[in-house]
Amino acid sequence: MKTLAFIGIGNVGFALANNLQSKGYNIIIASDNPDSNSVREALKKNINFSVENVQNAINLSDIIFLATPFKVNENLLSNLDFQGKTLVDCTNPVEIGISHGLKSEISGSEKIQEWASSAKVVKAFTIYGFENFNDPSYLGSNSKPVMLFAGNDSNSKLEISEIIKDSGFYPKDVGNLDQALHLEHMTLLWVKMVRRDGHHSNFMWSYFEK
Ligand SMILES: NC(=O)c1ccc[n+]([C@@H]2O[C@H](COP(=O)([O-])OP(=O)(O)OC[C@H]3O[C@@H](n4cnc5c(N)ncnc54)[C@H](OP(=O)(O)O)[C@@H]3O)[C@@H](O)[C@H]2O)c1
Repeated sequence: MKTLAFIGIGNVGFALANNLQSKGYNIIIASDNPDSNSVREALKKNINFSVENVQNAINLSDIIFLATPFKVNENLLSNLDFQGKTLVDCTNPVEIGISHGLKSEISGSEKIQEWASSAKVVKAFTIYGFENFNDPSYLGSNSKPVMLFAGNDSNSKLEISEIIKDSGFYPKDVGNLDQALHLEHMTLLWVKMVRRDGHHSNFMWSYFEK
């Protein structure tokens, strides 16, 4: 089974890592600060995780997940060598007032591709709140919630499609990385509906073809 590194192991990182570890993936927390609250909490809740500094974790893993506050990403990513591996961008540039942090001029994922130029970036696991990432299944429901993803590299997208399936979502490729801007707007819609307007946090979308 593949080894996945998680840069950021807070709400989103932990839920996804915990879900995927239960499906047999090896999980490495990628952190230069192993004493941080989120790392300590994650290790307490799942004793199967290991910790490595960020560059070592990248070296040892097949795929890397990024689940950090968007504003730290430029500094964090610019000096890392991703060796052409897939970097799953789970981050969202969100500003005060639940608006797009880059003024909708470019997606956060395209900026991440610029900063992490040695990686192949795929945007995924962003269009819902973290409450849905540990277990997206619904009792009594045959349909799976859809996870929309975007990226430029077809092999990376195949890899991520498999991981999305294993995590319990229905994977749907929506196109190249410039489509990430529209996924980020879907996130803003979800966040406004749930965090601001009080809709249920397990609200997700489905995909049907006739
Ligand atoms: N919350 C949601 O429902 C949700 C859903 C989808 C996507 N997102 C996006 O996912 C990202 C993470 O959200 P979250 O709610 O999981 O945040 P969070 O709970 O605050 O976790 C953030 C993680 O990033 C780490 N981190 C912070 N600054 C860092 C730095 N400079 N270098 C390395 N690691 C750093 C934190 O470590 P420390 O413990 O050391 O601070 C923590 O592990 C955000 O971009 C958010 O927009 C959020």
